[in-house]
Amino acid sequence: MDDQSVTPQANDQLRGVPALSAALRWEEPPEGPEGAVLVLLDQTRLPAEEVELVCTDVQALVAAISTLAVRGAPLLGLAGAYGVALAAARGYDVDEAAALLSGARPTAVNLSRGVRRAYDAYRAALSAGADVPAATAVALSEARALHAEDARASESMAAHGLALLERLVPGGGYRVLTHCNTGALVSGGRGTAFGVALAAHREGRLRRLWVDETRPLLQGARLTAYEAARAAMPYTLLADNAAGSLFAAGEVDAVLVGADRIAADGSTANKVGTYPLAVLARHHGVPFVVVAPTTTVDPATPDGASIEVEQRPGHEVTELPGAAVPVAPLGTQAYNPAFDVTPPDLITAVVTETGVASPVDAASIAELVAG
Ligand code: MRU
Repeated sequence: MDDQSVTPQANDQLRGVPALSAALRWEEPPEGPEGAVLVLLDQTRLPAEEVELVCTDVQALVAAISTLAVRGAPLLGLAGAYGVALAAARGYDVDEAAALLSGARPTAVNLSRGVRRAYDAYRAALSAGADVPAATAVALSEARALHAEDARASESMAAHGLALLERLVPGGGYRVLTHCNTGALVSGGRGTAFGVALAAHREGRLRRLWVDETRPLLQGARLTAYEAARAAMPYTLLADNAAGSLFAAGEVDAVLVGADRIAADGSTANKVGTYPLAVLARHHGVPFVVVAPTTTVDPATPDGASIEVEQRPGHEVTELPGAAVPVAPLGTQAYNPAFDVTPPDLITAVVTETGVASPVDAASIAELVAG
């Protein structure tokens, strides 16, 4: 199958349109942070419309996290950190806010880590004698620092990832398969795995981005295809279960995915459907690469079995996403884990902003974290 035989994409109307609105931003009126809000691009409404969700309180932010209006590991970390600042600015109980935010979704370690970072800074400021407005400013500046660090991490991951791709698939013209959504919508910068593909595209080295639709919530179809179209990348969408025949046809040079949590031994939790891709990649001798910032690596989680995998409501499987249109008989039970875990021996390399771990094991992961 060459590029001519691939279904043409109806993405021309998206070419050259302005960059996506920021996935998340802090806004406060001139009078001060008491009226601050966290503005999110509501990802449940994409690609049909770009609608912003204005969170004036932590409850609204927790709901946005639970419904995946804001999602993706690095962005959840930012949402968590800004959420603590929002609670402090608005005069909510910051302890309670931190607990609610951390518990909103269990798998992406970035969320609890982002919350903890802003919360610890806030508490430390109070302990050092700061008043609440000053401690709030400290929490906000911690969230902003995390945001800036995440943007810088995106750039470094793209550089490391591109160099790795060139080693794994010499000569360019890469045909890359990706799963879920890992671009600017999940990051302070250009993203993780998608950021590498985008860098390859900008260097004229990406022949095709194969985009898994990512059942059941279609982050690939709704979000990654949207980002790829806007960046005028050569992309093709496939149903998740078409990946096997794509590998068998020799159409995939490398798999690039993100991560929600990387355990100390390199086991990687990512969107459900990632593990089968790793098995397929191994069977077909194709490199399988995880791209994630070090904020996603959790040395306190020893192995894959210790990662809590979020279980989501069955209706996400028994109904079409976004519409309450049933695709299964009423009362059908559904198995709906949001993530699966890929063991380290199936992962060719882990790319972070600090470098590349390959082979993937406890020692190489520890080295990445140490920087
Ligand atoms: O349930 P989601 O949409 O939050 O899941 C997101 C993913 O699984 C991403 O692949 C992961 O967070 C990496 S994003 C850089």
